[in-house]
Amino acid sequence: MPSDSTIAPKGTGRLSATTGAQYARIHAVGGYRPERVITNDEVCTWIDSSDQWIRERSGIETRRWAAPDETVIDMAEKAARDVLTRSGIRPAQLGAVLVSTVTHPYQTPAAAPLLATRLGANGAPAFDISAACAGYCYGISLASDMVRGGSAEYVLVVGVEKLSAFTDKHDRGTAFIFGDGAGAAIVGPSDHPAIGPTVWGSDGEAWDTIRQRESWTHILNAWEDRQQSGQDSTIGMKGQSVFRWAVWGMAPVAQQALDKAGITVDDLDAFIPHQANMRIIDQLIKQLGMPADIPVARDIAQTGNTSAASIPLATERMLREGEAPHGGLALQIGFGAGLVYAAQVIELP
Ligand SMILES: CC(C)(COP(=O)(O)OP(=O)(O)OC[C@H]1O[C@@H](n2cnc3c(N)ncnc32)[C@H](O)[C@@H]1OP(=O)(O)O)[C@@H](O)C(=O)NCCC(=O)NCCS
Repeated sequence: MPSDSTIAPKGTGRLSATTGAQYARIHAVGGYRPERVITNDEVCTWIDSSDQWIRERSGIETRRWAAPDETVIDMAEKAARDVLTRSGIRPAQLGAVLVSTVTHPYQTPAAAPLLATRLGANGAPAFDISAACAGYCYGISLASDMVRGGSAEYVLVVGVEKLSAFTDKHDRGTAFIFGDGAGAAIVGPSDHPAIGPTVWGSDGEAWDTIRQRESWTHILNAWEDRQQSGQDSTIGMKGQSVFRWAVWGMAPVAQQALDKAGITVDDLDAFIPHQANMRIIDQLIKQLGMPADIPVARDIAQTGNTSAASIPLATERMLREGEAPHGGLALQIGFGAGLVYAAQVIELP
């Protein structure tokens, strides 16, 4: 056996490397909201609550639920087709497909490869991102870096959730919050900076603040017992801890995203935070000292909290309803189970 010092590397310095576009931008945003509207009154047939309490504590008036046989891939496909049409990008031009979701019911395979195939994306690389309510902003960050690094020219980013399938209808702490839906964006080359630096991170110490109650291993092992309860795989949440973390922890993250982009709140044309809870949104506005005339996404009132889908759905609504200008600057921030978070300033498509 030769000693290490006698082995000479053969190819050092001979690898070629990719370089991409100098800058990236969001070319279009699209969305899909399932047909079935669930009112607070309907929720109150499952939990001891009232329409007034739910409106006051969360700002939610209605949420959408997918049909029982409608999957996250079905919803993702509808949002993806919408954004492809709006952007004018053909499926064959997609260099990667990223799906942010925590409610695709298969541990493997991921949702993204099947979505890519359904769209006709010619075998593009495809994978899922598990970053809960921060998943869309994680996806935008990855896609931006992929476009600039040269590993893809156009990237489809989808945030999609079927939370109705993972929510305990009888849990007063979560039953009224979650909804279903899909939002999507196409990220591609730009001739000027249009996606600011991402400020992101995680705190695994607080992993049990919002989480699936039992592991899949436990659920498989306890299959027989589960026939009795049927609730092990639903999501549990320490509501007050989440609230405090979201307000006090996320305002500085949002401020850092503004600082890193080189702008102030006064330069914003829209604020699009994760649609977690209207009171969290109001507190973030206050913490950031945001001028009263800056349009703020409040899609949660009609759509509920759709986790990874909430920011693209809220963006789609603001643009469609003329609340925010095309080409304007928006601060977006996602945060949730992990705990994980990500914020960036983007130029609206
Ligand atoms: C979930 C949330 C609305 C609950 O509000 P809260 O004020 O913290 O509620 P608490 O659990 O402290 O309970 C306060 C009171 O409301 C009652 N209550 C709790 N849930 C209720 C419900 N669904 N309907 C009516 N009353 C309810 C409690 O019984 C309690 O009553 P009491 O004071 O008489 O004992 C709030 O914690 C929250 O918004 N958290 C953040 C959740 C979130 O955004 N999650 C998504 C993150 S991605």
